[in-house]
Amino acid sequence: KPRAAVLISGRGSNMMSLIEAASAPDYPVEIAVVISNRPEAHGLARAQACNIPTRTLDHKAHADRAAFDAALHAVLEEEQADFVCLAGFMRLLTAGFVEKWQGRMINIHPALLPSYKGLHTHERALADGVKIHGATVHFVTPEMDVGPIIMQAAVPVLEGDTPDSLGARVLAQEHVIYPAALRLVAEGRARITEGRVAIDEFEIAPPALV
Ligand code: GAR
Repeated sequence: KPRAAVLISGRGSNMMSLIEAASAPDYPVEIAVVISNRPEAHGLARAQACNIPTRTLDHKAHADRAAFDAALHAVLEEEQADFVCLAGFMRLLTAGFVEKWQGRMINIHPALLPSYKGLHTHERALADGVKIHGATVHFVTPEMDVGPIIMQAAVPVLEGDTPDSLGARVLAQEHVIYPAALRLVAEGRARITEGRVAIDEFEIAPPALV
């Protein structure tokens, strides 16, 4: 099976959804390693509990972004990664690094891109009074949160929602679409063509809106 590296910075709930999906015999990719840029990331212990090898690459121990990204690239080569999944990896990557992995590196973002790029997506969606919010899996390109979209899930914004309640509703959908999107990419069924993603066949029905 091809090998995926999952990059995290914290809790690792999306990482867990990928590990769980990949434990099924018919899943087309193996989670070969989990890499964190923060030694204290809770996700590291969760991965280890699933017998997934982990690596820590502390960004504070590197002189600059280029040095960190060079070290990260070396670890990915050493681990023979075919795909890279950013799962709550809260660090910008240099264009040089991203270009090396283009078409093989995907990210999950807690909003319906191209709305709400960046941080604090749930707070901003609530402040704007939008009625529909969601999550996006996309290929990573050098500019943050603009790469070609592979899969999205929408959720309703409900009366009385807080960033936490809305975020929990979105997160539950993240855990559905991330493994589904990685499957499409690993099987070669989602590819970048002319800056967009061509998808041969959808794996899951989009979740219904309430
Ligand atoms: C997730 O909601 C993910 O979409 C978001 O961080 C959270 C990580 O949670 N990612 C970003 O905001 C990327 N800029 P997790 O560690 O439990 O997967």
